[in-house]
Amino acid sequence: MLTTGTKMYGVFGDPVAQSRSPLMLNCAFRTSGIDAAYAAFHVLPDQLEQAMHGIRALQFGGVNVTIPHKVNVMKYLDEVDEGARMIGAVNTVVNDSGKWIGYNTDGIGYVRSLKEETRMMIAGKELLVIGAGGAARAIVYALAQENPQKIWIANRTLSKATELAQALADYGNIESVSLDELSSHVQVDLVVNTTNVGMFPNQEQMPVPPEFLQQNMVVSDIVYNPLKTKLLQEAEIKGCQIHGGLGMFIYQGAYAFEYWTKRSAPVEAMRNILTQ
Ligand code: ATR
Repeated sequence: MLTTGTKMYGVFGDPVAQSRSPLMLNCAFRTSGIDAAYAAFHVLPDQLEQAMHGIRALQFGGVNVTIPHKVNVMKYLDEVDEGARMIGAVNTVVNDSGKWIGYNTDGIGYVRSLKEETRMMIAGKELLVIGAGGAARAIVYALAQENPQKIWIANRTLSKATELAQALADYGNIESVSLDELSSHVQVDLVVNTTNVGMFPNQEQMPVPPEFLQQNMVVSDIVYNPLKTKLLQEAEIKGCQIHGGLGMFIYQGAYAFEYWTKRSAPVEAMRNILTQ
């Protein structure tokens, strides 16, 4: 029930009707006994500025922003956290006593999910990230904070992988590699697909050939529709430990919840409501 004390939150996107964040975050508030509510707002690109003014005036606690606002929202914030600045995108905005601060919880959400769900140690390991778009940038940045031995970036368009590796060079040993040279050049402990290859309705596709997968690898996919992609199915056949994409969505929301409320997120309740 909403009260006069209810703190308002939401997600800005275009489109936004498909978002499962309201389901997940309202569950989190309810489970934690916090008087707050979270709604989806269809904000068109040319109305983002007015929408940001609107939530300041209404003293929202914060919002998530999704496609196509993750870059443009930065113009309307008082401060952007270093990680979000390096990633070049904000997905979580926090009203800190009237100061509006932008964060990116996608990459750190991914890493927390990977650690919680696989128990993998990232420090000292060789990692392969497939893809060089926005999701890859957030994930490479966050993985680099965990002190891996090396991060390889492979991408259909090699030049974009090379640009991304150079852009994040200050954060670790990061190098691009062409998809064709993977098998001969690269021995890794973790493979992460950050592209939409394998996503519905192209469930039969996978971003690397099955021969590349070896039993000792952890194989991870940020795609969560389907929950078990072709990549993960093939990895499972090889005996790899697998990690699906739902956790990234859950933990990016868990971090947003924690930044807003300064309480630990009820992660299991959030997962249950999504998988019901
Ligand atoms: P996101 O924000 O989800 O990362 P993006 O920034 O558009 O989206 O990046 C999409 C990534 O998926 C890119 O790495 C893209 O490869 P290119 O740089 O070569 O375009 C990759 N990608 C998309 N469709 C692909 C496909 N069919 N095969 C291989 N890679 C694909």
